Amino acid sequence: MKIYCSESFPATRMRRLRQTPALRRLVCETRLSVQQLVLPLFARPGKKIRTPVNSMPGVFQLSPDELLTEAANAYALGVPAVLLFGIPAKKDAKASEAYSAKGIIPEVVRLLKKELPELLVITDVCLCEYMSHGHCGLVRKVSDHKAVIENDPTLDLLARSALAFAEAGADIIAPSDMMDGRITAIRKRLDEAGFTESPIMSYAAKFASAYYGPFREAAESAPQFGDRRSYQMNPPNAEEALRETAMDIQEGADIVMVKPALAYLDLIYRVKSTFGYPTAAYAVSAEYSMIKAAAAQGWINERALTMETMISMRRAGADIIITYSAMDLARWLKEEGF
Ligand code: PBG
Ligand code: ZN
Repeated sequence: MKIYCSESFPATRMRRLRQTPALRRLVCETRLSVQQLVLPLFARPGKKIRTPVNSMPGVFQLSPDELLTEAANAYALGVPAVLLFGIPAKKDAKASEAYSAKGIIPEVVRLLKKELPELLVITDVCLCEYMSHGHCGLVRKVSDHKAVIENDPTLDLLARSALAFAEAGADIIAPSDMMDGRITAIRKRLDEAGFTESPIMSYAAKFASAYYGPFREAAESAPQFGDRRSYQMNPPNAEEALRETAMDIQEGADIVMVKPALAYLDLIYRVKSTFGYPTAAYAVSAEYSMIKAAAAQGWINERALTMETMISMRRAGADIIITYSAMDLARWLKEEGF
């Protein structure tokens, strides 16, 4: 192991540089800036709709007009990007609204790009919100007790969805489905249609996680049978996460993501140090809800705990943090002079 310091006490006193706020700031190794934050938003059809998500205090399902207001507030606070999820008017077994130009996401993207052209609009690409059964891919029933996910036929639908979002004006395409080959399929479809400059942020190391629980209420996307373990990764597997990430990079991903974030800091560190690619960490729904719940009880300092948690992701190597706390963080960072 590398020896960092050969000096010893009393010549060396580690506490010397901890004596004042100014000194501590001067030697601070890791900083969090509002420019690194992405705010996820949930879009649903309608007008003047702001439906609270019970398990995520402060998070709402928003109709396009309300979503625009929310995005404008975030942008005014300095948040540079939003990540959009759609709750369609109707779901079916082929996720039709996921790739319709008239779908909820293209509608919201067009509105945001018209009213807030500088705001980066990232669109999650997955089928689960649009499928009647809530799975991320096409499902084929094999028997009464068994259904399988049809990987390869799903790729075409994902590519169509990505293209519909790019055509509406999305700045970044973010596939979260975990089908094999989706980055190749999406990159090819975008390129053929002339969207060669549209970046892909891939959910590269995405685990089958209990931390997504509150999101499934927010997006109304809980699977109606089974679970997502045949496509999302098994939490104990770190080497496999690096291979997943390597494959996504080879297939053309521009930004890679680790998700969830807090319980997977080792992977944020390893993905960033192994590949050196722009790396995003998704602080997912339960990471947010756990802090909110404890804060509501008066058991923790919400602000200090949220800031410390976000810094841990930056320290691990995340360049980008996707978080439902983005607006709170923007306010706090401003108060602290960042
Ligand atoms: C859809 C998707 C999910 C999340 C992001 N995209 C849910 C899931 O995979 O079940 C989770 C985000 C969160 O928990 O905040 N594939
Ligand atoms: Zn999905």
